[in-house]
Amino acid sequence: MAQSESEEVRIVTFDKDRFYLRQGIGLIHTPEIITFLNERGDELLLSGPISERDIRWRYYWSDSDRMRVVTIRCSDNDLLVAVAAMNIRYTWRRGIGTIEYVLADKDFRGRGLGRAVVSEFIQQAQESVEPPLDKLELVSEPHHVAARALYESLGFRLVKGSDRHYELFLSKNDEHPDAA
Ligand SMILES: CC(C)(COP(=O)(O)OP(=O)(O)OC[C@H]1O[C@@H](n2cnc3c(N)ncnc32)[C@H](O)[C@@H]1OP(=O)(O)O)[C@@H](O)C(=O)NCCC(=O)NCCS
Repeated sequence: MAQSESEEVRIVTFDKDRFYLRQGIGLIHTPEIITFLNERGDELLLSGPISERDIRWRYYWSDSDRMRVVTIRCSDNDLLVAVAAMNIRYTWRRGIGTIEYVLADKDFRGRGLGRAVVSEFIQQAQESVEPPLDKLELVSEPHHVAARALYESLGFRLVKGSDRHYELFLSKNDEHPDAA
């Protein structure tokens, strides 16, 4: 399928192997991503598998104004190895990105793929989402030790009083209430 205007592909190297990171997906890619999440994402899908027949889900994921999706594939065989999504919404005073479905294939963990997809969203939130986002948020269960270490290393902090809701303030005008 032709690349749409909202798609962008970059070659990235992790652990000496070559992968490519793609920002944006077309409708044609959503069934494959649903299958990847369903087959490899049992740690994520606590409420059960995503249905490929959910047409609304497929359109939603290919609408880059509402949902940014980043995928990483092996350069030599196009194997999908990591995915993450960011839902975008605006309130009257803030742009908020909710990061969801962060998953690296078990066989490819510990090589920087998870960091790459989440870092990509932090960058997009400030540079390519229009208007730029003021805050990123996500939910990470206490037992998701690796994911929480990743988010914390990128600056996310637990929302006061919660053991699973994280936030990262991006706008200088909208700093964390606890910020010095
Ligand atoms: C979370 C996840 C995406 C990380 O992907 P990954 O590609 O293995 O992560 P990276 O190699 O980019 O590592 C990034 C950071 O994560 C943390 N991390 C990764 N693996 C870890 C582990 N086994 N234990 C503790 N921290 C770990 C470290 O802080 C690491 O930074 P460092 O390499 O500088 O030490 C992956 O473990 C995963 O898919 N887990 C299951 C699904 C999940 O929990 N998703 C998040 C739901 S909120």
